[in-house]
Amino acid sequence: MNNNFDVIVIGSGPGGYVCAIRSAQLGFKTACVESRNTLGGTCLNVGCIPSKSLLNSSEMYHKAQKKFNKFGIEINDIKLNLPKMMNNKNNSVLTLTKGVEFLFKKNKIVHLKGKGSISAKDTVTVIDNSGKKNSYKAKNIVIATGSVPTSLPGIKIDEKIIVSSTGALSFEKIPKELIVIGGGYIGLELSSVWNRLGSNVTVIEFLDHIIPGMDKDISGEFLKILNKQGINFKLNSKVTNVNLVKNKAVVDFTNNTNAKRERIESDKVLVAVGRKPNIDPSISELGIKINKQEKIQVNTKFETSIKNIYAIGDVIDKGPMLAHKAEDEGIAVAEIIAGQAGNVNYNVIPAVIYTSPEVAMIGKTEEELKKEKIKYKVGKFPFLANSRAKINSETEGFVKIIADEKTDKVLGVSMISDMAGTMIAELALAMEFGASAEDIARTCHAHPTHSEAVKEAAMAVDKRPIHF
Ligand code: NAI
Repeated sequence: MNNNFDVIVIGSGPGGYVCAIRSAQLGFKTACVESRNTLGGTCLNVGCIPSKSLLNSSEMYHKAQKKFNKFGIEINDIKLNLPKMMNNKNNSVLTLTKGVEFLFKKNKIVHLKGKGSISAKDTVTVIDNSGKKNSYKAKNIVIATGSVPTSLPGIKIDEKIIVSSTGALSFEKIPKELIVIGGGYIGLELSSVWNRLGSNVTVIEFLDHIIPGMDKDISGEFLKILNKQGINFKLNSKVTNVNLVKNKAVVDFTNNTNAKRERIESDKVLVAVGRKPNIDPSISELGIKINKQEKIQVNTKFETSIKNIYAIGDVIDKGPMLAHKAEDEGIAVAEIIAGQAGNVNYNVIPAVIYTSPEVAMIGKTEEELKKEKIKYKVGKFPFLANSRAKINSETEGFVKIIADEKTDKVLGVSMISDMAGTMIAELALAMEFGASAEDIARTCHAHPTHSEAVKEAAMAVDKRPIHF
């Protein structure tokens, strides 16, 4: 094999593999280095994909137990087969990672197996599983090495009792008690899975609200919904210690306001307090600048402080740590390398929590607009007044559209709904085209659909919803 490439991408997560495919489409001789046995990175192997599989399976189990009866579907003796559920999850992961392998072959991308590092400004060295070293020359290098879970000081994740999201996706038995540290994306999605499968789940969150960064209206309503589903919350509480005592975890935490100390015992503890960029420290010796948040500094062209070395995804100082943001950056950087105008609009990146109901948002929250002193108007529409949601008995949640007070341009949308993750795409498109609330209100939406609530919320911006 000729060891010279136009583009070498390090990491095959959603940022890296998409970048490799787009680079190959643009005619570049492309290689992608991956140290895992399978392609797809955290998202496909131990993140988005397996978690969504368990969210889907556990939701079906929950519905069969608690909801089917109402619709006249009577099933006796519903049994949970956890190994089979896990097997189904593993098969989904396998199918999708094989899918990326197929796409690499189709696009003639060379898959370099092993741990890649940048040994010189134009050289990537790969050490494979057997310890063999190979070096490859690249005109352009793209760092797409993603992120890893963080923990708290003094708390050691053993992936058996004290686990990260990786361990919590593969419990062999349903834990009787599960403590989740952190009420963010990972904490709440995995709390939902294990709560539905029968665990007694307690979430301990440092702040006085869950899902920081989301609209406060949404986080308040979502907390009520999750509480009703049986998940316990200890808000405004700081975990100070987690000790292992006879195969159990003992968790100590302190209330931030009154300093009251509490201790609970649990079979498993999930630490979900965020992720940190996965950066090879040797890159700073090469001269690549890393900022105070330990992220790689890039310019508007995703170029690091070294010419022709680029970085995308969770490792950079732009945008949220989300798979779809990384994918868009992967496409943009390949196009920039090709001399085209690749670009990512960071104002329009949707975020979704795949619980039931789902939570989705895009653009600004009310709190952010207040801080920025931007005047706005709000339109809200509840699913209680949406016909399709009523038929389906999915009436929890609402759509909230925030538009500029003067121009009516949509600035942000948040929603809770069983279909929120899919519905948010309409708003992404609307915002990308600079739509006003009136544009959405005048767009014909099919009846009966959950999406009509978006149209109604847009009409509510001008105080004229029809069904509420
Ligand atoms: P997160 O940043 O979403 O939430 C972490 C939570 O932990 C925060 O609420 C924070 O206040 C809390 N916390 C921090 N220190 C604490 C302490 N000492 N005691 C109690 N609570 C504490 O991080 P998470 O959930 O780990 O997710 C990591 C990344 O993965 C995020 O950037 C997220 O965007 C991404 N992700 C996205 C998903 C999606 O798009 N559906 C799903 C899973 C992860």
